Amino acid sequence: MNILIIGSGGREYSMALAISKEKQNHNIYFMPGNGATSTMGTNIDINDYDKLAFWAKNNNIDLTIVGPEAPLVEGIVDIFKQNDLVIFGPSAKASKLEGSKVYMKNILKKYNIPTATFIETTNINEANSFIDNMNLPIVIKADGLCGGKGVIIAQTKEEAKKATRDMLSGSSFGDAGKSIVIEEFLDGYELSVFAICDGDNYIVLPAAQDHKKLKNEDIGPNTGGMGAYAPTPLVNETLYKKIENNVIKPTLEGMRKENAPFEGVLFIGVMVVNNEPIILEYNVRFGDPECEVILPLLKSSVSELFYKGATKDLKSYKLDIKNEFGVAVVMASKDYPYKNTASTQIIIDEIHDDDIANNAHISYAGVKKENNELFTSGGRILVCVGFGTSILEARNRAYALCGQIHFAGKQCRTDIAYQALKLANE
Ligand SMILES: Nc1ncnc2c1ncn2[C@@H]1O[C@H](COP(=O)(O)OP(=O)(O)O)[C@@H](O)[C@H]1O
Ligand SMILES: [Mg+2]
Repeated sequence: MNILIIGSGGREYSMALAISKEKQNHNIYFMPGNGATSTMGTNIDINDYDKLAFWAKNNNIDLTIVGPEAPLVEGIVDIFKQNDLVIFGPSAKASKLEGSKVYMKNILKKYNIPTATFIETTNINEANSFIDNMNLPIVIKADGLCGGKGVIIAQTKEEAKKATRDMLSGSSFGDAGKSIVIEEFLDGYELSVFAICDGDNYIVLPAAQDHKKLKNEDIGPNTGGMGAYAPTPLVNETLYKKIENNVIKPTLEGMRKENAPFEGVLFIGVMVVNNEPIILEYNVRFGDPECEVILPLLKSSVSELFYKGATKDLKSYKLDIKNEFGVAVVMASKDYPYKNTASTQIIIDEIHDDDIANNAHISYAGVKKENNELFTSGGRILVCVGFGTSILEARNRAYALCGQIHFAGKQCRTDIAYQALKLANE
């Protein structure tokens, strides 16, 4: 197939890596890609979606896969479909599940899907009186896309009211904060569950756990994600069944009723409280770095999975998963996530240890190529992914690979998968 991948991160790199290892020969194009994706295909630079669809038709693209949320919310899928192109991802309407937390919460409520009790409001007085009647901590969420920074967990009512004021006035998140959700705090553990959907049918992939905080033991500011592992032992068959029956099925049915059938990756942010899955939020695409760790665990074809998802044919797909674990460790630049860091060269040692060479790899994210040498370009630079028959083995291999990578100021967490390892030691 001729495949176009939209995006430039480690997530999109890992999609291409999985696809390029398949038996069939695929031609892969990236829009825009990064300094390392060019080893697997061709980077193109067409930002306008109408022009991109025109290009895709002229270049006989058989399948387009969209990595990040912004193009989805902006309607890239609708434009490609109007041009009779096959594209895997939700329509602009269905993407509101991620694009608007108010919309998402109302869908959850309307279709009886378990979620934290909330109010939505645009009014400061209404917000304040709701806050007065709540227990602490209190969770305040801006409605629109905020790049993972739009949620405040307030420990005092004063803090909650200030966050509310800053959001509603537009001073903290502009228009994205002019409508807000105020909700109860859920105390439990978090999971990332991914369902590949074609509007009617779905396939659930192994659940992962992400590490959002910058520092070990979940301390420090939120980031795009500093590491992930899958499958997580924090989920068992009973919990998967509850997620399917109480969450995925009613969501797909609800979205059909809303005239916005959900096609694409439904990323379910779950908080498990007393063994019950409560929904924190939906995203409408793969998580990054969860994607980097999940896709390599598939024995069955990734391109076929996405193609069937895009053509209402998931029923005929047989998911086959390796009996392995994967651990992904993000290596970030010096000042991430506070500010940009000047670009610096990346040196990767030759890997002499076959065990590492055969069971670990790099997914490149914020990198650029100059004179055939790699330089950092952005916050999250690359992801070291290790595999093994246990989480510990996979993690050791991922960290062994991290040790072979050098760039000035590099930082990574050293405790990825700690919750799973703690469980194993109990
Ligand atoms: N009701 C809640 N109770 C406890 N923690 C929450 C709640 N809502 C969100 N969080 C925490 O805040 C993080 C970000 O919230 P989320 O709804 O996923 O928004 P986003 O990813 O868009 O920032 C979650 O991953 C979770 O750790
Ligand atoms: Mg989230």
